[in-house]
Amino acid sequence: MTGSLVLAVESSCDETGIAVIEDGRRIHANVVASQIALHAPTGGIVPEVAARAHLRWIVPVLDEALQAAGVTPRDLDAVAVTYGPGLAGSLLVGINFAKTLAWAHGKPLVAVNHLEGHVYAGWLLDPGEAEREAPPFPLVALVVSGGHTFLAEMHDHLSYRLLGQTVDDAAGEAFDKVGRLLGLGYPGGPAISRAAEGAVARDRAFPRAWMRDTFDLSFSGLKTAARRIIATARADEGLPADEREGELPAAVTAELAWGFQDSVVDVLATKTIRAAEAIGARGIVLGGGVAANTELRARISGEAEARGLALVIPRPGLCTDNGAMIGAAGARRFAAGARAGLDLDARPSLPLAR
Ligand code: KG4
Ligand code: ZN
Repeated sequence: MTGSLVLAVESSCDETGIAVIEDGRRIHANVVASQIALHAPTGGIVPEVAARAHLRWIVPVLDEALQAAGVTPRDLDAVAVTYGPGLAGSLLVGINFAKTLAWAHGKPLVAVNHLEGHVYAGWLLDPGEAEREAPPFPLVALVVSGGHTFLAEMHDHLSYRLLGQTVDDAAGEAFDKVGRLLGLGYPGGPAISRAAEGAVARDRAFPRAWMRDTFDLSFSGLKTAARRIIATARADEGLPADEREGELPAAVTAELAWGFQDSVVDVLATKTIRAAEAIGARGIVLGGGVAANTELRARISGEAEARGLALVIPRPGLCTDNGAMIGAAGARRFAAGARAGLDLDARPSLPLAR
C-alpha cells in the first residue's frame, strides 16, 4: 500500500461498520456488524437498543478491519467518521470511538456526512477489482435509503445541488412499512423484492405520485393505498384484518409485493432519467439501501444504456450502510483539507446540501 489510508467508522443507524480505504477508492477492509436480527422481533429499530449494540460491537469490528487490511493504526493517514444524519445515540458511539482512536494515535479526524457517503460508494473498488473509470461529471445522484430519498446534481466533487426530495416518507420506509403489512418481516425491502420474484400475474396496479413537473417524490399516498389494497385482499381471502393473524396465500403476497415495488421503481427510475436529461448529465450514481433492489437496478440500467448515460450502482453490500462509503467520502474531504476537532458533535438532522 502506497496511497493515503483512511480508516472510516459508520454507526449512524443499525450497522456498525469500519473500513480501511486507500486513495479514496480501493477497499482493503470493510467489516459490517448488522443489527438486523436484533431489531427483527420489534419490526423496527429501537434507538436505545441500537446504540448499545454499537457499543458492544465496535471494538471487535475495528480489530477485524485492521486485521483484514493488514495494517495497524500507525499506518493510517486519517480517521473518518459519520457525524450525521442519523440516530443521536448511535452516532455518538462512532464519533467518540473515532475521536479516541485519532487522539490516541495522533491522526487527523475527518467528519463525514452519511448521505455523501452513500453517493461516494459509487467510487469504491473492491479488493482485486480491476480499475474502472470514475463516474463522469456532471452527474445525477439518486440516494434512496430507509431515512432519505433525494435527487442531487453534481458538477464536481463534494458539491451538490438538490434537485428534488421526498416530501413525506423515504422509499425504504415505504418498503419496510408495506413489508410489515404483508407479514414479510423486517426489513421490508429485501423481503418484498424476494416475494415479488414469485409473482405470476403482474396486474395489481398501485398508484404513482408524480408530483407534477418537479423532481420531488412522495410515498405516503402509496403506503396508504397499499394498506387499503392489502386489507381488501385479506377480506377477499376471509382473513382477519391484523396481518399477524393469518397469512395471505403466497401467490397473492407475491402479486401485491410486485405491484408495490413496480410503483416505487417506476417513479424512481422515471424521475432519475428525467433529471439526468434535464441537467445534461453524463452519468448517474445510485446509492442507499433501496439501490440494492434488483428491479430498480435493472430498470435504470436499461434506460441509462438506451441514452448513453454512464451508470454506477454499487454492489448491494455497498448500497446499504457500511464503513467503506464513509471512507470514500472521508478521503475526498481529507484531501480537500477538512479536519474535525475533538469537539465534534453528532448532527442527527444534517442535510447533504447546505
Ligand atoms: O442505506 P440503508 O442501509 O440505511 C439507511 O441509511 O436508511 O437503507 C436501508 C433501507 C431499508 O428501508 C431497507 O428496507 C431498504 O433499504 N432495502 C431495500 C433492499 N435492500 C434494502 N429496499 C428494496 N429492495 C432491496 N433489495
Ligand atoms: Zn444509509
